[in-house]
Amino acid sequence: MKTKTIFHLFILLSSIFTITIQSQTKSYEKQIDSVLSLMTLEEKTGQLHQVSLYWATGPESPEGDKLRDIKEGRMGSVLNVKGSDKVRALQELALKSRLGIPLLFGLDVIHGYKTTFPIPLAESASWDIEAIELAARIAAIEASASGLNWTFAPMVDIARDARWGRIMEGAGEDTYLGSLIAAARVKGFQGKGFGSVDAVMACVKHYAAYGAAVGGRDYNSVDMSERTLREIYLPPFKAAAMAGAATFMNSFNDLNGVPASGSSFLMRKILKGEWNFNGFIVSDWASIREMIPHGFAEDDREAAKLALNAGSDMDMEGYCYRNNLKDLVEKGEVSLANLDDAVRRILRKKFEMGLFEDPFRFTDPIREEKALNNPEHRKAARDMARKSIVLIKNEADLLPLKKGQKIALIGPLAKSEDDMLGGWAVGWDDNSDVVSQFEGLEIRFGKENLLYAKGCGVSDSSKDGFEEAVKIANEAEVVILSIGESRSMNGEAASRSNLGIPGVQEDLVKAIMATGKPVVVLMNAGRPLVFNWVADNVPTILYTWWLGSEAGNAIADVISGDYNPSGKLTVSFPRNEGQIPIYYNHFNTGRPSLKDIPSKDFRTGYIDLKQSPKFPFGFGLSYTTFDYSDINISSDKLSKGGVVEVSLTVKNTGDFDGEEVVQLYIRDCVASLVRPMKELKDFKKIALKSGESKKVTFKIDEQKLAFYNEKLEWVTEPGKFDIMIGSSSADIRQQSVLYFE
Ligand code: NOJ
Repeated sequence: MKTKTIFHLFILLSSIFTITIQSQTKSYEKQIDSVLSLMTLEEKTGQLHQVSLYWATGPESPEGDKLRDIKEGRMGSVLNVKGSDKVRALQELALKSRLGIPLLFGLDVIHGYKTTFPIPLAESASWDIEAIELAARIAAIEASASGLNWTFAPMVDIARDARWGRIMEGAGEDTYLGSLIAAARVKGFQGKGFGSVDAVMACVKHYAAYGAAVGGRDYNSVDMSERTLREIYLPPFKAAAMAGAATFMNSFNDLNGVPASGSSFLMRKILKGEWNFNGFIVSDWASIREMIPHGFAEDDREAAKLALNAGSDMDMEGYCYRNNLKDLVEKGEVSLANLDDAVRRILRKKFEMGLFEDPFRFTDPIREEKALNNPEHRKAARDMARKSIVLIKNEADLLPLKKGQKIALIGPLAKSEDDMLGGWAVGWDDNSDVVSQFEGLEIRFGKENLLYAKGCGVSDSSKDGFEEAVKIANEAEVVILSIGESRSMNGEAASRSNLGIPGVQEDLVKAIMATGKPVVVLMNAGRPLVFNWVADNVPTILYTWWLGSEAGNAIADVISGDYNPSGKLTVSFPRNEGQIPIYYNHFNTGRPSLKDIPSKDFRTGYIDLKQSPKFPFGFGLSYTTFDYSDINISSDKLSKGGVVEVSLTVKNTGDFDGEEVVQLYIRDCVASLVRPMKELKDFKKIALKSGESKKVTFKIDEQKLAFYNEKLEWVTEPGKFDIMIGSSSADIRQQSVLYFE
């Protein structure tokens, strides 16, 4: 009782001190020292313990009396709670503990909170960094008004394997673009910085290399050179750390035999050492305990010891820390210094978030009501959704549709609201405000112009609905077919070995195509699908992913021509599953394929498949066309510390206003190590009115030519570089040569 009084007096003084400190140095180390000095070993290990309440986002964990743990100061954070009232009740309980240290509340706010934005992979196809930051900002405004102070996002795993269900959560296959997006999302979530009431802590995940799980099988092993790790997989994490991310999350995979949750190399050497990260690392769901089935830890006691010593600060749903750390410290198997460091990191964030000052600052029901019903958020979600759509094909300029055309909307996803939310949507329990594709088209084209038939279910084997679908197709002037995956087919634990369109949907497309009506396909998916027949035979295809709350309106904007599609793929689409992994920034072999044909002439590739992807990285059409001309390089020589400018003119040569993503790729032609055929190094998204021209300029410095050499030094080697400007990775419009001296 005495301690508690002293502690509260201390907290009061420290909050006054905090305000002063915040505006000056933003250092809370003295206050943390004082709190640490008051804590028992049990309270310290409690800070490192996190459990899920209300629902689970992983397999069941050992049961404990969670509420009692909160009340006894044996818990630092909970996840899977939302709503200011629920958070307040739990925070009140935490304040009843001896020291009254407030809890952190975390949730997977991945692409929006109440207002659902497109899945992250879709958003990345916008190549619009500002819009992506805004999407994260809005998610944070809503989540923080609803009690939360921590989101388990952004997911920044580079993914080159479409079989992996979690490819939907990231920004695709490219390191440069992925790094920009990672930093933008961190900035969006954390807003003006901790201390502002609408900032939530970002959690960069899954650290590291989870996207390279063997065979695209979730949770699986990764065996990778340190060079590839540092050059391809780590930069988005580093960019997020440099953007000020508060926390990181371990990945489930082992990396070269060491489970990430027990990897001192990843956590202590790189993240906390080289990158000087002062936040904390949370495990993934039970990933510390899962080091037992990995065969890396004997039991949960050893798992706790390995993880803490390696630098994992908080144990999510593992109970390993809770049940073992005190004993481990008492027996000297975990040093008090390591334990204190982990506690310090967590307390630091609690101070920075202003929770000691006001533990209830995120639990204001009036603010919540307002934030969750803000029409501006819906507007931004619609804007983001239409920017995420990729026009794959538009033969005979079928799109945009003309006003008054009679449309038959057919397909299992046309009326779905639930699927539009995509995986990892916080609003999974309430899809009442989702605009379905049917609703969006009805609003835009009028009830009288819209016929509808489901045709079949997503995975059905029954073709009973085909007759009705063919009937309405015959009555219409144009057919829109909405097909693809259901949202449960991607995300965590949803890897697929077969990337085809499920069920009898392709047969439905064939039946409709046989009517001879013009057809537009909307492809709904959380990953690149393999849809060769559709791609080769249907004249018009829009890749619409999962677009969130405003899906229907955004699709109607594009179909009607109110918005000219500008999305470009951020992941290569394979021709079939056997071609995976396929990515644009691959090396050349000693026997490169010379033609894009199946090859049996002692050349690299397959004897039964073209070498190129079906749709390449950076590809996406527009209703208009863009002409690239007048490339000019300010010098063909670059020396240390210098800058060379590459400029060109882009002209909109079609009838529609539109946006183009102009892409800069570089190849190091000869180096001490084999280098990729091309690497994205910059891009500009520009808007051009019909007939308008704009000059685009890129700056190239030594950094854009650098790579990790064999000794893992970041170097630029003298020699020749190809400088390529393209409309996609496979559509290089202009090329020049640069020599680094
Ligand atoms: C497991 C997932 O891998 C991770 O991304 C997520 O944040 C946690 N569960 C919490 O739901």
